[in-house]
Amino acid sequence: MNQPIARLRCLRSVELRTQASVESTDFYSEVWGLRVVEQGTDGAWLRGTGEHHHALQLTQAERNGLGRITFAVATPAEVDEAARRLELRGVPIVSGPGPVDDLGGGYGVSLVDPEGRVVELLADALAVPKLGREDAVPVGVTHVVLNTVDIDAAVTFYCDVLGMRVSDWSEHQMAFLRCNTDHHSIAFNQAEWTSVNHVAYEMPTVDHFMRGIGRLRQHGTVPLWGPGKHGPGDNTFSYFADPAGLVCEYTSGIAQVDEDRWLCKVWRRVPELSDLWGTAGPPSEQVRDHMAGIPDPGAFERFDLGRAS
Ligand SMILES: [Fe+2]
Repeated sequence: MNQPIARLRCLRSVELRTQASVESTDFYSEVWGLRVVEQGTDGAWLRGTGEHHHALQLTQAERNGLGRITFAVATPAEVDEAARRLELRGVPIVSGPGPVDDLGGGYGVSLVDPEGRVVELLADALAVPKLGREDAVPVGVTHVVLNTVDIDAAVTFYCDVLGMRVSDWSEHQMAFLRCNTDHHSIAFNQAEWTSVNHVAYEMPTVDHFMRGIGRLRQHGTVPLWGPGKHGPGDNTFSYFADPAGLVCEYTSGIAQVDEDRWLCKVWRRVPELSDLWGTAGPPSEQVRDHMAGIPDPGAFERFDLGRAS
């Protein structure tokens, strides 16, 4: 039986492990435009204007890395079924299925992907009232780009096990995967080591996007790369480094996919396709270094998985 383990509805939140959780909490709340939901001694939870309890969790750590990627699924029964299918497939589970001991509540299961990333499937999490969309602040997280040592294996796992679909390739360097109508919620980038490349936050419109960049500029923070507009996904981009050196992106206008009509394309990696407006120019060495990050052992270091694969 090779059905996907569940039907992912959307990317809910991302946990980042950071060397500078206090400074980064200040940055994301006072400059970036998120709001602190809760702050403790070793981390913080921050939300956007959208309906999710939090978009970003920051956890103090010795080294930067990815803590967890959380996707919404529809029901606790789907979480239980996902856990059963994970066991049949031999995919490691590090928590659940069951009630989640986390601020946002819910019922979830957390699995480990082949490179040690923790992926959580969560149902019945706490609802929060949406906030006004007039300010130039993020709605929430909209995608995560992950550096992978084996892009084909990563794409196969996320499609076969998690039921994601490939929307586009950028040559054999990047793959853009969707779980709903958004062109991508995850993208993989072939790299020398496993790490988080960047986390992208949705701005409602290009006007919000540009005003957000303006606010950052007033705080003395200029983009590492951007503003510009990507070919694959058709979304605007502007990349910044947070106080720990992790890369965050403002984006808007992600392409919407009609499952019955969409044809996956392979984009050539040429400036006129990766920077449609011609405003960003090529990525600098500095932004490439930040996006590469440092090797992230992920769950292989934090959990006893009983095997090293
Ligand atoms: Fe991005």
